[in-house]
Amino acid sequence: MFDIAARAVRILPAESAHRFIIDALKMGLAKPQPQLDDPRLAVTLRKSGLKLPNPIGLAAGFDKNAEVFAQMLAFGFGFVECGTVTPRAQAGNPRPRLFRLDADRAVINRMGFNNDGIGYFVRRLSAAPRAIGVIGANVGANKDSEDRVADYVAGVKAVWPYCGYITINISSPNTPGLRGLQDRGALEELLGRIGIAARDMDAAVKNRPLFLKVAPDLDDKAISDIADVAKAQDWLSGLIVSNTTIARPDTLASKHKGEAGGLSGAPLMKKSTAVLAAFHAEVGDSLDLIGAGGIASADDVIAKLRAGAQAVQLYSALVYQGPMLAQRIKADLVAMMDSRGAERLSDLNAA
Ligand SMILES: Cc1cc2nc3c(=O)[nH]c(=O)nc-3n(C[C@H](O)[C@H](O)[C@H](O)COP(=O)(O)O)c2cc1C
Repeated sequence: MFDIAARAVRILPAESAHRFIIDALKMGLAKPQPQLDDPRLAVTLRKSGLKLPNPIGLAAGFDKNAEVFAQMLAFGFGFVECGTVTPRAQAGNPRPRLFRLDADRAVINRMGFNNDGIGYFVRRLSAAPRAIGVIGANVGANKDSEDRVADYVAGVKAVWPYCGYITINISSPNTPGLRGLQDRGALEELLGRIGIAARDMDAAVKNRPLFLKVAPDLDDKAISDIADVAKAQDWLSGLIVSNTTIARPDTLASKHKGEAGGLSGAPLMKKSTAVLAAFHAEVGDSLDLIGAGGIASADDVIAKLRAGAQAVQLYSALVYQGPMLAQRIKADLVAMMDSRGAERLSDLNAA
């Protein structure tokens, strides 16, 4: 039923469809029965110790204002990342700014961090029962900010007590100059200042894993610079690889392929997995890696695990496959483990 409803809303313009789904979820119109996961799906991330009932997360951008994380956990996600949230509310870019590329099973967005601001976000998160599940808070900088690093520090401090982990998003292509924070010098300054805040916060509330979310549009030098700077920060738990791409593969066939913004979904799978593997080659097991980009099936999840991810996230495939996708992928992973006599998910990594 949920999947039929999801298909029906695809006749709406993409952003109206998204708003409709969030409102329907908020009103309780779609209430799945939460199910316990097969214990073999549970993972504990090595560095951060973050415990997930299953490794399939909802990527940032779906629940920007922390409105429907409980419902999305009930749809079977092992963790839900809310945001990106900025200190002050902002409208984002003019519409249209979200496009479905049906023939490519892809999405292009140039939303530009539209969100209601950190105050609203924290109120919603703090009202959630503690035991609800793993909720991540993805923080960013306001477009017109004079001190972007200060925005990240403010975001980290504000969400720290109320979430399961924090993501520092420096990889959106839709805020001009933001990706420049991935450059070695800028990244050192950013992580240096967040590190000071993290140590202060840790004195009051312990063990809040922090992740850095990176772009897939990085050459080998940039990957090795980011890996070096990240490894030098003992408080940093790991990397989320990756955000959307500004590249446009030749294979794209949809009429919206020329729209500006970040491309996600199936055409991002290969590239983001290659960048994930390159980061894994640099950092080994010294940082937790979460793989995102183009995941639409259990095979895609296994490809990310093989490339070095300990957990994964998806978003765009939900647009095409509906909200039961996490349940389906988990069922397929369990069936694979059964047929191979595997005792845990990592046993599927071996070819
Ligand atoms: C409409 C849309 C909005 C997004 N907004 C954000 C965001 O606010 N912050 C962020 O870190 N990533 C955002 N992303 C990127 C996703 O979290 C994810 O990294 C990317 O889409 C790749 O995964 P996918 O191919 O499964 O969609 C957004 C993606 C889409 C499609």
